[in-house]
Amino acid sequence: MEIKQNISLKEFNTFGFDIHARYLAHIAHEKQLTKTLAEARQNSLPLLILGGGSNILFVQDYQGLVLRNEILGKEVIREDNDYVWVRLGAGENWHQVVLWSLDNGWGGIENLSLIPGTVGAAPMQNIGAYGVEICSVFSKLEAVNLESGTQHIFSTIDCQFGYRSSVFKSSLKDQFIITRVVLKLSKKPSFNISYGAISQTLGEMNVQELNISNISEAVIRIRRSKLPDPGTIGNAGSFFKNPIISKDLLHTLKTEYTNIPSYPIEGDLIKVPAGWLIEECNWKGYRKGDIGVHNKQALVLVNYGQGKGNELVELAHDIQDSVNAKFGIQLIPEVNII
Ligand code: FAD
Ligand code: EPU
Repeated sequence: MEIKQNISLKEFNTFGFDIHARYLAHIAHEKQLTKTLAEARQNSLPLLILGGGSNILFVQDYQGLVLRNEILGKEVIREDNDYVWVRLGAGENWHQVVLWSLDNGWGGIENLSLIPGTVGAAPMQNIGAYGVEICSVFSKLEAVNLESGTQHIFSTIDCQFGYRSSVFKSSLKDQFIITRVVLKLSKKPSFNISYGAISQTLGEMNVQELNISNISEAVIRIRRSKLPDPGTIGNAGSFFKNPIISKDLLHTLKTEYTNIPSYPIEGDLIKVPAGWLIEECNWKGYRKGDIGVHNKQALVLVNYGQGKGNELVELAHDIQDSVNAKFGIQLIPEVNII
């Protein structure tokens, strides 16, 4: 198995930052993983798991071994009258899996169309969009402990899914590599079109009969109209999570900012769109050198080409400071900063 040395990761992160990894290994199957982990252990190398690099911000060269997950495979492992259970290699491209599910008429992930990245990273932050999160179709996953090399199975409960979070982003951070994911998809899909502009877009598309393929198409249209294509402008989607605040704080803020958008979630908790807070602080469309804030979506920070990761982190701090000063809300990054 080949371990490459001093490799640029520019092509492997959607911000397009040109940093280098001291070592890089492409992992295509579990046996190769076991061998590589043993070598890394012998040489006391720090490890970083990389999928599609669409939720990572590199601020400096990585002085350890990057394991690029390229484990493939899509198989049906069980089915009944209503559901099908599919076992997916963690290196599969997420959107290609969505297209495969649409081709087979299996519902559940159509609202998650066009999210960049790999299957293995999807449970890591419980990817979500347009009213659906992966946890709603999740069955279990297989993961390997990076230190011991042992294999573990994680159920939905074990994963502790939350809004853009899981156990792999909190208490078990950097301890496991996810190798396979099993999803439970529906043969008799129910449709989720209540979120955002989906029904309006379906209307514009002149859809007569609702199905998972035209919901996917509507989601793709909305996403293309707002989010920059990383192939053209470097970005990692939403840079921050949408903050969750108390009803009391919302009430106080409403006296001054009457039009603040808010979405009740549970109990006394309210989600406020970070994009609105950032826009109110006049950051939308801001640009300094090659780093900036997207002009159609203030929650997306961008690299126009020659920017550097540390410049982007500086901008993120300035945005956090100004949002905190104006609203008393601390924005938390969604992107993994390395
Ligand atoms: P990477 O960026 O490679 O890795 C992300 C993190 O997961 C890193 O910490 C990495 O170490 C870890 N990791 C990766 N693979 C594994 C593995 N196999 N085992 C263990 N850890 C692993 N996200 C959403 O939730 N909803 C959206 O709507 C959305 N829209 C986006 C739009 C754009 C234009 C972009 C660029 C990004 C968007 N994202 C969105 C963020 C991103 O696509 C997701 O977080 C995606 O799941 C990241 O996958 P990846 O393979 O690129 O992960
Ligand atoms: N808004 C503004 N100005 C902006 C952007 C947004 O005022 O520049 C306000 C508007 O009120 C708008 C609201 O924010 O109605 C919500 O905006 P949008 O529908 O674009 O969604 P978002 O909250 O910014 C979240 C996710 C996205 C996901 C979309 C659709 C987070 C952090 N982001 O974005 O996920 O695709 O909803 O469900 O939860 C990602 O995680 O990388 C990501 C792109």
